[in-house]
Amino acid sequence: MIPTVSSAEHFGIPHTYANGAFAPVYEERTSWHLPMRGSVPDELHGVFLRNGPNPPPVPFEGAYHWFTPDGMLHGVKLHAGRAVWYRNRWVRTDALAAKLGTPVAHGADDVALVPNTSNTAVVAHAGRVLSLAEYGLPYEVDTELNTLGRYDFHGQLRAPMTAHPKIDPVSGEMFLISFGPFPPYLQYHVIGRDGRLQRSEIIDVAGPSLMHDWAMSENHVLFFDLPVVFDADYFVESGFPYRWNAEHGARVGIMPKNGASADARWFEIDPCYFVHSTNAFEHDGVITLEAPRYPTFMEPGKPDILAQGVRSQLHRWTFDLRTGRVGEDVLDERAVEFPRINERRTGRQHAISYAIGGEITEATVRFESIVKHDNRTGVSRALTFDGGVPSEAIFVPAKDATSEDDGWLMSFVYDPKRDASDLVIVDASRLAVQATIELPARVPFGFHGTWVAA
Ligand SMILES: [Fe+2]
Repeated sequence: MIPTVSSAEHFGIPHTYANGAFAPVYEERTSWHLPMRGSVPDELHGVFLRNGPNPPPVPFEGAYHWFTPDGMLHGVKLHAGRAVWYRNRWVRTDALAAKLGTPVAHGADDVALVPNTSNTAVVAHAGRVLSLAEYGLPYEVDTELNTLGRYDFHGQLRAPMTAHPKIDPVSGEMFLISFGPFPPYLQYHVIGRDGRLQRSEIIDVAGPSLMHDWAMSENHVLFFDLPVVFDADYFVESGFPYRWNAEHGARVGIMPKNGASADARWFEIDPCYFVHSTNAFEHDGVITLEAPRYPTFMEPGKPDILAQGVRSQLHRWTFDLRTGRVGEDVLDERAVEFPRINERRTGRQHAISYAIGGEITEATVRFESIVKHDNRTGVSRALTFDGGVPSEAIFVPAKDATSEDDGWLMSFVYDPKRDASDLVIVDASRLAVQATIELPARVPFGFHGTWVAA
């Protein structure tokens, strides 16, 4: 038998990322008439969008890293109980244009120090939809996945925008951080509900650590200065310029939302890393933070993240602003990533969180379930997909929701039997599949999505 080489391997993508759930797709599709099992709730009108890395079909140069290839958006429009279409489009970045020889993007000059692949997340705020990567400006897109151009908030944001902005569910303001390898290492920005930049602050930190995410409670913001730090040499080895360095220590800075750097209080915690935070909230002078915690992350000598054998578990830290005491405990032994909550609870006490169950083991990522964790009972439940591989599940609340989990989860689930993906809509309160919409192609395992209501 002649061994087969996938198209992606032909272009120099390592075997693990060229096959199965990770394998890139090379066709941009618009597909109507999608086969469906179950029923789409009548009240869901909008587009589910998700971003992720998808290198184009040209020879890949340098060390391949899962986190860095060109962003591709995948979207499904839902209307009146139907799935109207599925689309996938590369974000038309200048990084992509340089590889394909296509026209460069319109809009503001970028602030990125390296080619901005805009591959990490997507957010809707103040009437705009933005594709995000944490080291450059956002790219504005529309809900048919067309790229409109780079966006710098009317010339007001001249710093990289985090892939994890937080929107206050009451005020409608959007809060951002910028971090980078050179001073100022950390900045904090507030965008009004009108989309105008209201405030930027430089936050003093010990050095350039990887601040992929952060957190926000009702009145405070939380910055994570954790021991994964900038190292240009590690970029040559791994294709990613941040690595574990326990000597950096680990601390969480807590600052009033309307404060400045001098108002931040820094709390030492045991060295660890969290890629994402689940949520934070405050009560009576005590700030609570939840996040899936890795014991270590990006260790030297293990350049491929998939070879690291890391798993993260849902932890809770408490920070007492009066006494300075820090508490930490494990909430769940399960390995999880991609935590999400009902975003009406952002910064407020939540009871329920969702995540993808699974771990990075020897040379593969085994994500196999959507996990729902209930803080009131301490119990988590997992929903599996007959061998399918779910990606991040976002929560969309029901129109007249009567409880925190009254709504639906949406996730692209890779079906290895079809070598294609489904959009699965899950009734969140029952943790049961509500609808399975068959897509014509694979949605490669990627990063973050959002629901843009019509
Ligand atoms: Fe992320």
